[in-house]
Amino acid sequence: MSTENLPPCTTIEPLRGPLTGACHVPGDKSISHRAVLFAAMAEGTSHLTGVLDSEDVRASIRAVEALGATVALDRQPDGTLAGTVTGWGAEGPQQPDAPIDCGNSGTTARLLMGVVAPWDIAVAITGDASLQKRPMRRIVAPLAKMGATFEPESPEHLPITVHGTRRLRAIEYASPMASAQLKTAVLLAGTFAEGATTVTEPAPSRNHTELMLPEFNVPTTAGTRVAGVEGPAEMLASDVVVPGDPSSAAFVAAAALLTPGSSVAIENVSLNPARIGFVRTLERMGADIEETYGGAEGKEPRGTLRVRFTPTLRGCEVPSQHIASVIDEIPVLALVAAHARGITVFHEVGELRVKESDRLAAIIEGLAQLGVDAWEEGDDLLIEGNPSLTVPEGLVFNSHGDHRLAMTWALVGACGSVPVDVTDFTCVAVSYPDFLADLKELVR
Ligand code: S3P
Repeated sequence: MSTENLPPCTTIEPLRGPLTGACHVPGDKSISHRAVLFAAMAEGTSHLTGVLDSEDVRASIRAVEALGATVALDRQPDGTLAGTVTGWGAEGPQQPDAPIDCGNSGTTARLLMGVVAPWDIAVAITGDASLQKRPMRRIVAPLAKMGATFEPESPEHLPITVHGTRRLRAIEYASPMASAQLKTAVLLAGTFAEGATTVTEPAPSRNHTELMLPEFNVPTTAGTRVAGVEGPAEMLASDVVVPGDPSSAAFVAAAALLTPGSSVAIENVSLNPARIGFVRTLERMGADIEETYGGAEGKEPRGTLRVRFTPTLRGCEVPSQHIASVIDEIPVLALVAAHARGITVFHEVGELRVKESDRLAAIIEGLAQLGVDAWEEGDDLLIEGNPSLTVPEGLVFNSHGDHRLAMTWALVGACGSVPVDVTDFTCVAVSYPDFLADLKELVR
């Protein structure tokens, strides 16, 4: 690839050794956002531990502070954030005096719309260049049905001003997509509307909201593809212990799978079935990976993931019903598929085009640099793996400023025998700031 006009690069050197021993990954990003937002909405002081310290979660913290919550979360020796959040409770959030900048964080922006919709305030929400390209109509549409109004009137993209109202209407919403962000925004708004609000999805999405809201005194109902709240409810403070993030664990797991001699235990990681679709996918590829349940905090199961180097991987099919459970792991699964014998198919992954970057195009572009054939057929992604893949010297991967792509392409250098360059590698701070250091720790 031409290096002209590319942002600054980081060289990722080979780890040159197996990954062994036990490790922890940073706190779960989805659960951390919810812990901060729900605590801010609740009456009283919540105690949070294990919270991810990353740019995305800091965007949520800044947002709730602008709305009047008091956040006292401090960095702990293990790198997580712990402390208290005192919410606005029944008084409601204050009118912020400036737009709220959500940075790169889609979860902050989308959930925030549901947070402010039930109150008589007008909140301008914006984000960085990537976030300003991401679709917002999906959140605006149900909230408008509930009675919130928006500026501009039918906005597709940020910046958007949400005009909330104390008179929101409960709705039964048939969501056109499996999206936990959409579901959460509607349920949070529904918490303050009169009556039952439900969201039905075409496939199940992650269920952290349904599991956590009852801890904050908001009863929820949940089926496989439907979740609901009965409003108006009084949100009360709670304590949340955030487990490790399976989406970050997936990168460590892939590193162990692809590096000869490796055997790694990733401890205290969320084993929520809606989040570990990548474990099921890797199993179907023949990977030596297993999970051991070690209990639950609230209703979120957690435990240990054990992963060993697996020399013979085979391609597999991931059906559309399972895509939501692997959506953030598709870049790294695609890299594993590139090393497998045969074709791997991810069905109905058009959503990848509107993540932090166009991940569908970027995966195909990066795998092509490795000499691996990957292509789209409609909304499906197909990858023809090559078990004897050798990485050419001098590769420069474009991360497109997207944390999950940066970590995926970094694994090419870390787990191989020649260094690679990755553009804008610092974007990993969005979800896993110490990614490289953690990998190096496992090589002794
Ligand atoms: C998230 C939901 C998913 C996921 C994102 C985090 C959440 O997005 O990709 O990284 O915390 O609710 P969608 O709701 O757009 O599928």
